[in-house]
Amino acid sequence: MPVRFCSPRFLVFIFLISAIPIAYIISEERAVPTTHVFHYHSAGFFRECAKWDDQGRRFLVSFLEGGVGEIRVPDDYAPGPGDVVLKEVTVVKDFDLAGNSSLGIAIDRLRNRLLVVVADLLGNRYSGLAAYDLSSWKRLFLTRLSGPSDEKSFADDVAIDAGGNAYVTDAKASKIWKVGADGEFLSIIRNPLFTPKQWYKTLVALNGIVYHPDGYLIVIHTFSGNLFKIDLAKGYEVKLIEVVGGSLVFGDGLDLISPTKLVVAGNPSGRLVESSDGWETASVVGKFKGPIHRLSTAATVKDGKVYLNHLVGMGYPKKTHALVEAVF
Ligand SMILES: *[C@@H]1O[C@H](CO)[C@@H](O)[C@H](O)[C@H]1NC(C)=O
Repeated sequence: MPVRFCSPRFLVFIFLISAIPIAYIISEERAVPTTHVFHYHSAGFFRECAKWDDQGRRFLVSFLEGGVGEIRVPDDYAPGPGDVVLKEVTVVKDFDLAGNSSLGIAIDRLRNRLLVVVADLLGNRYSGLAAYDLSSWKRLFLTRLSGPSDEKSFADDVAIDAGGNAYVTDAKASKIWKVGADGEFLSIIRNPLFTPKQWYKTLVALNGIVYHPDGYLIVIHTFSGNLFKIDLAKGYEVKLIEVVGGSLVFGDGLDLISPTKLVVAGNPSGRLVESSDGWETASVVGKFKGPIHRLSTAATVKDGKVYLNHLVGMGYPKKTHALVEAVF
């Protein structure tokens, strides 16, 4: 037991939660948001990732207790004061994966499916990638990435390339697993650049990942704030993207707004990063402060607007989560 609860990620999580005084939380909860917020009632307190499904007109969210939910946005939804609180409906509850968390998710539009990263949050003894049909929610594959006899791992986020290959980050051992379009395990991408020299910067390693339409991955290393470009056509050549204008430390989930604009969720809630040279260099050009106490963990783009997922739901008896529009 003590070993499990010593998982660095869990400790960091507890540290972040306990560092925020209750009075502050109450005042933050009472504050009127400065941007639009989709609120939804949920069965759970923790939702790690949210992605907007444009065709389904719904947000898809991953449950830290395991599973996936959908939050449908009605056609006549009118944003503004007193707008309706939406409702989360569970669409995936996979009994084969009981005891594991669902983390990063990615919509594979071409193949009409959702990829879901699965990991054992406390023990770091299981990591996997599952795919579910977006219409029937039938499971299409479940690929084991690591087990009890492998090095400790924590699968965290996923991106899909044009051919349907998936790339899953390991926030614990700082590597990337590659899984083929049919769920076959292909390879592991490692690089010395993925491991900072200072031990305290290794506690939460590779995290948010996106696929850029020009054929490379962009990945963030949370505790160092390093942003990497990984060229898929050049044998996974890894380059450190030179970032000016601010730090990306505590960066978590990523999403591309356009080929030159990237949003980084985390703390601060949202950072806007731009590049004009194909992500060799980039600059932090905007910051957005949302409800910090709810911990922003993922970003998604809905009809051209950025929405930030927040890990922590609040309220009693009904837990309410917030998808907060980030304006830079
Ligand atoms: C996570 O799922 C795997 C695969 O089914 C299972 O072997 C493992 O025991 C689960 N982990 C936990 C912590 O229950």
